[in-house]
Amino acid sequence: MSAPSHPSAPSAAPLRFALVGCGAIAPTQAQALKELPGLALLTHCVDIDPARAEAFAAKYSLNPATWAAVLADPAIDVITLCTPSGHHGSLAAEAFRAGKHVIVEKPLEVTVPACDALIAVQRASGRRLAVISQHRFDPASQTVRRLLNEKALGHLIAADVRVPWYRTQEYYDSGDWRGTWALDGGGCLMNQGVHTVDLMLWLCGPVREVYARTATAAHERIEVEDLVCATLSFSNGAIGTLFASTAAYPGFPVSLAIHGTKGSAVIEGDELKTLAIKGSETITGPAASAHAMQVATGGTKSAVKNAAAPAPQNLTDPAGWKWGDAHRAQFADFITSIREKRPALVEGESAREAIALIHAIYESARTGFPVSL
Ligand SMILES: NC(=O)c1ccc[n+]([C@@H]2O[C@H](COP(=O)([O-])OP(=O)(O)OC[C@H]3O[C@@H](n4cnc5c(N)ncnc54)[C@H](O)[C@@H]3O)[C@@H](O)[C@H]2O)c1
Repeated sequence: MSAPSHPSAPSAAPLRFALVGCGAIAPTQAQALKELPGLALLTHCVDIDPARAEAFAAKYSLNPATWAAVLADPAIDVITLCTPSGHHGSLAAEAFRAGKHVIVEKPLEVTVPACDALIAVQRASGRRLAVISQHRFDPASQTVRRLLNEKALGHLIAADVRVPWYRTQEYYDSGDWRGTWALDGGGCLMNQGVHTVDLMLWLCGPVREVYARTATAAHERIEVEDLVCATLSFSNGAIGTLFASTAAYPGFPVSLAIHGTKGSAVIEGDELKTLAIKGSETITGPAASAHAMQVATGGTKSAVKNAAAPAPQNLTDPAGWKWGDAHRAQFADFITSIREKRPALVEGESAREAIALIHAIYESARTGFPVSL
């Protein structure tokens, strides 16, 4: 079937969205889209459970609809998929074939072949794909990326990355898909850790070899891991460690410590907690963000020019940053990237790299040998 002609391209009217999958992440997305007047208009919602779609529609003043109806509606420009991870590929393919742009919640898909198939359908469609990896948009992440681009930390030598989270047994029991290989795609690393794996790759570059151990230590009735330890060799010569968990009671903040020949930056709980550069005073706490910005912008402005995509506006001001703001920033980036015909910050190809690394880690844990990427 050929794709219908698309209504969104020439005008600067807001893109019209339909949200699919009215579960846990859906309110964050609906709120973020509502906070983008002029860019986005969320009009419809869909769920395989019609009662869920109706309740969600009532709460956010939307039209509850069926999947077939939103695909057939020429007024809908973008489908945003908030369904279980292992359904992302098949639903996205249908949406692309219907001529829609697609945003997929993380992870892109649960296997590398499924990611590749999804990307192939997207390319053939000529439509655009973004994958939610909202922590790339956090002010701390944007700032550290600038510092690394500016070589303010020297050459990268090591990364120490931790996702020591906790999820109850009730969490895993709350949905049939949770903790399954087929639909969750993995455990603490694929579902929860993928954010931080993606951020690490974006900041530190590709990994060329992993050696890992995994365990299912503190949950029942799940097929997947709740503990991961891995050592990493990056293509640029740096080495790293990665710890991820949903068994670390009561749960601790995510941290990424990035060490270069000239200094270190530590992100903890989505904030820049420490910036230490040789010859300068070490700065900790909120002041580290302001200082990092001074360092990053005190040199040339090339960090912004060299970034994979322009830094969206106001993303480097951490004051008042709250849950949901990063989703909003990512939606804004995606919509303006369509308008400006430039890449978005998290395209499908880029999001695929985290899935490839996670599967290399799983393979190493399964075989007991290092795995090359
Ligand atoms: N970016 C983030 O921080 C973040 C946070 C949580 C979840 N997620 C991701 O969002 C996705 C959904 O996770 P969740 O926790 O909201 O799950 P959930 O189980 O709470 O919600 C999923 C919803 O999708 C519906 N659904 C299932 N199959 C469907 C289909 N074929 N068509 C339409 N609706 C369908 C279910 O009925 C349910 O309402 C996952 O991929 C997850 O990894 C991202």
